Amino acid sequence: MQLLILNSSPRKDWNTGTLLSRAMEGAVSAGAHTEIIHLYGLNFKGCSSCFSCKRLGGKSYGKCALKDDLSPILGKCAGADALILGAPIYLGTVNACMQAFIERLAYPYLAYDAAKSSLAPKKMPIAFIYTFGATDERIKEAGYDQCVRTHEMFLKRIFGSFQSVRAVDTYQFDDYSKYETSGINVAKKEKVREEIFPKDMEKAYALGIRIAEMAKGEHS
Ligand SMILES: Cc1cc2nc3c(=O)[nH]c(=O)nc-3n(C[C@H](O)[C@H](O)[C@H](O)COP(=O)(O)O)c2cc1C
Repeated sequence: MQLLILNSSPRKDWNTGTLLSRAMEGAVSAGAHTEIIHLYGLNFKGCSSCFSCKRLGGKSYGKCALKDDLSPILGKCAGADALILGAPIYLGTVNACMQAFIERLAYPYLAYDAAKSSLAPKKMPIAFIYTFGATDERIKEAGYDQCVRTHEMFLKRIFGSFQSVRAVDTYQFDDYSKYETSGINVAKKEKVREEIFPKDMEKAYALGIRIAEMAKGEHS
């Protein structure tokens, strides 16, 4: 059972990467073969709107026709049994790198037929780990998590399932004394890092196990 983990954070080992690594440990403990791919350093763009993936009878029907660093990774995703994506939230949605990746992963599988079918080669469990710098209260107030509902709608339709874990009020700087922080409750952030983030890590671990078990179930 092959699980692919895709990290779009430019900081490979910070909040998003750390949670994804813990999810990977959970999945491995449940018997998954895993690979983590860091998307940020790769050379690729979002959808170019060429519509080759929608052209009936075309050789790229249901597939992304663009050729760049993402092409082999999209091939690996098509052959995987489960995916876990991880992204930081930038200005109210996933960072641009993850948005570009999702356009290329998901849009070719979206069929424009009345039955709203999916062109994905198979159903597979898909999960997301989101990290927000904002507090829960601020996320609700500003609607920063609308993107989670949008992903749920599209990814469920395409791949058949969707789960997510979120970490909020994450630590952004290694040393807060070096930055302007008058609008940030740094003491609370430290408390969240010490007391809540370890719980988020365990949620990520449990997510890894769950996704691996689901993929095994779909396999058998
Ligand atoms: C350009 C930029 C924009 C951001 N915008 C938001 C935002 O709109 N909402 C939010 O909750 N956090 C925002 N953040 C904070 C990050 O989402 C948060 O610190 C995240 O955990 C960083 O992930 P990383 O540690 O993996 O890099 C922003 C950070 C950056 C760099």
